[in-house]
Order: sequence, then C-alpha cells, then structure tokens
Amino acid sequence: MFSPASVAVRAGSRRVSGPSSLTALHQTRTARNACSFSTARSSSIYIGRSRPLQPTAPWETRARHGYATTTNPNPPFGKKNASNDKPSRIGLIGGRGFTGQAMIELFEAHPYMDLKYVSSREIAGQELEGYTKRKLVYEHLSPEEAAELERDGEVDCWVMALPNGVCKRYVEAIDQVQKTSGGKSIIVDLSADYRLDSAWTYGLPELTPREVESATRLSTPGCYATAAELGITPLLEHLGGEPVIFAVSGYSGAGTKPNPRNDVKLLENNMIPYSLTGHTQEQEISHHLGTSVSFIPHVASWFRGIHLTINIPLNKQIASRDLRQIFQDRYAGEKLVKVVGEAPHVKSVSSAHRCEIGGFSVDSTGKRVVVCASLDNLNKGAATQCLQSMNLALGYAEYEGIPV
Ligand SMILES: NC(=O)c1ccc[n+]([C@@H]2O[C@H](COP(=O)([O-])OP(=O)(O)OC[C@H]3O[C@@H](n4cnc5c(N)ncnc54)[C@H](OP(=O)(O)O)[C@@H]3O)[C@@H](O)[C@H]2O)c1
Repeated sequence: MFSPASVAVRAGSRRVSGPSSLTALHQTRTARNACSFSTARSSSIYIGRSRPLQPTAPWETRARHGYATTTNPNPPFGKKNASNDKPSRIGLIGGRGFTGQAMIELFEAHPYMDLKYVSSREIAGQELEGYTKRKLVYEHLSPEEAAELERDGEVDCWVMALPNGVCKRYVEAIDQVQKTSGGKSIIVDLSADYRLDSAWTYGLPELTPREVESATRLSTPGCYATAAELGITPLLEHLGGEPVIFAVSGYSGAGTKPNPRNDVKLLENNMIPYSLTGHTQEQEISHHLGTSVSFIPHVASWFRGIHLTINIPLNKQIASRDLRQIFQDRYAGEKLVKVVGEAPHVKSVSSAHRCEIGGFSVDSTGKRVVVCASLDNLNKGAATQCLQSMNLALGYAEYEGIPV
C-alpha cells in the first residue's frame, strides 16, 4: 500500500480514466432514479447465479421526511447461492508478509480452502506455523516454478501477496501456460498492479457486481480505497464538489520491508503525512468512483487499522438523520459493513473483518457533510476482502470462512 506505485498506476494524472464496473453500477442507478437521494436497483447486477430479478417491493422502503430510499441494490450471496462444495487448492506467493499471514489465518479456518503451496524467499525451508490442515514448508517459488505447477494442474487459485510491481512475472508465466496448455486457475492479486486494468475484475463485493464466478483475474482494492469507496458511494449521485479524504493508517500498512513509515521509533508519539498528492490510491478511488477525489494519507504509531474522515460537498441540502438512513439502506444485509451512529474508532475495528461507517455530520448549510469510515487494513482492507472475492469466484458462499 505504501510501496512505490506500479507502472500502471503511477501515471499520476488526476483525470479519471474510463468508467469502472462500480461507476457503471452508479450510472445505471442514477439513470433510473426518480427521487431525491434514492438508490434504485440496477438490473445489470442481478444477472448471476440463481439471483432472480425482483421488481420493486419488498426491497423498496420510503425513508422518513420524504427521502425515498431503496434497500441494498446489490445484496450478498449467501449459502443458497453457493455452487461448489469441493476444496480448492491454493498457491500463496508472498506468504511471509503481513497480508500473506492474514490470508493463512483465514485459510486455516475455511472449510474449503486447501493451502498447498506457500512461497517466501527469506524463510524458505521453514515450516509454516498456524496452519494445521497439512504440513507445509515455505519454499521459494520462482515464476517458472509456479508455471510448472500450473502446467501440472496443481493449483486452483493463486494468491499474490507481493509488493506493487512484483507479481507481473508470475502472472505472465501462468498466463503463458494457460494459453499453451489450457490451465484454468484463478489469480487473485492484492497489490495495486491490476486495480485499474479493465481485463481484471475489481473485487469489492459490496459495490461491484457479485457475479464474479466467471472471473479468473481478480484485483483486490487497497485498504484506503475500500474504506473511501464504501464511504462515498451512497452519496455519489448527489456530489456537489470533490470529496476530500483525510486518512490515517497503522504502520502494518507499510509492509515488512523497513522504511520510515514502519519505523516504530520514528512513529513513537508521532504521525507522519506522506504522498499528500498523487498517492496511487487517490487514482484508484477516483477511477472506481468515476469522480476525482483528494486523498491525504498519514501513518501513525499503532500496528493495524485505518481511519478515514471524508468531507463531501453535496449539490442539495440534507438532514443528518437522512444521511445516516441512506447509508443504512445502501448497506442493508451486508455483514462486513456496519453503519454506526458515532464516528467509528480504529480500536473497534482492529483485527475485525468489517468496515464501520458513521459519525455522519451535516454543516449549517446542509450541503457539506462529513462521513467517517474505519477498517482493519489487513482484514477488510486486504485478506478478508480477498477471501470474499475468492469465495464468489470459486462458487462458495460469500462469507464462507469469514468470522462475521
Ligand atoms: N499491508 C497492508 O495493509 C495492505 C493492505 C492492502 C493491500 N496491500 C498490498 O498487499 C501487498 C502485500 O503487502 P504486505 O503488507 O503483505 O507486504 P509485506 O509485508 O512487505 O510482504 C511482502 C511479501 O512479498 C514477498 N516478496 C517481496 N519482494 C519479493 C520479490 N521480489 N519476489 C518474490 N517475493 C517477494 C515477501 O517475502 P520474501 O521477502 O520472504 O520473499 C513477503 O512475503 C502489497 O502489494 C500491498 O500494496 C497491503
């Protein structure tokens, strides 16, 4: 997250390039909206596995004070949507790092995820601790060796938990095998490398179409981007200016490679602003929301958990009770998004799997609001979200193996 931008993301332009699936969802909704602050359902997101189109009631509710709202247009895929009860064999590249470790913890508890290969250069030869389903030893898998396993049909899903700019060689090697020998594994990437690549599916299930079972290349959103997109999307159609996102992260966001942003001594009683313009996730958020945002990140002295305070100008007045209602309706039924009254605290989401959104404030004009969002960067900001998308892509229930 704090590591150098990938080539794809580094371009630095504030221009918002090409509509994403999230933008498309929003545009469809906007086109269909008749009422103030309503979120009508988009049929485009219901074209999937056993999810029938249902016209209006019981989804529609009318909020107080004349703000028509619609309950969640993109509800979760529960057990009834699951189509697979066979284990999936997983190859994890980057298993020593923070997100790799968070993935291992989740695989350990998942009834269908069978971790078969775990790669690290630094601790190759060491036994993997905290995984009891089979005895596993870290090995240094090169892209060529991963390709060999792909050729032998050994892996159903590759998880890339590598710094930005590193996984391309693995992806290309696996792609090459699939082109020539017909392998069919899925690749899920936690880095920023493919988040703006339209050939990849951006996996933020609360906001993007849940029908990803045919997706074979999944990019997992950044932790800041996850919280920002969840915190802004319900108000997208009523923006009256550019949202400004003030963000603070714990230092696990900077990965394990020593640098000033994970230097515990430097962070003691301290907070460090960094990448104040042009952070890779500024571009990611702008791209996927379809509107430009300003993003101002900081790192502080705690280990895990991030907090965002988002200032959002609106094009019309709103009352604070209606503001909260819009978020409650939009995320109805979501087990990994909790709408709360007070501003969420990092403490309450640290090590948890949900994003909390709250602290809804409206200024005296009624046209400037502030929304807060907090989540654990290694869980909902990385591993939990990755597993959520893997579940959908592999045909399991969306929350399978996720403590909700
Ligand atoms: N940390 C977060 O909060 C967070 C949140 C969302 C997304 N992400 C993204 O997730 C990815 C991983 O982040 P992280 O925090 O887990 O990083 P990390 O703790 O620094 O771990 C990086 C992993 O990649 C391996 N690695 C590093 N360079 C490599 C290379 N050249 N070839 C092969 N393996 C290499 C490392 O193991 P060895 O050195 O032993 O090989 C380690 O397992 C990043 O792209 C980051 O942007 C992170």
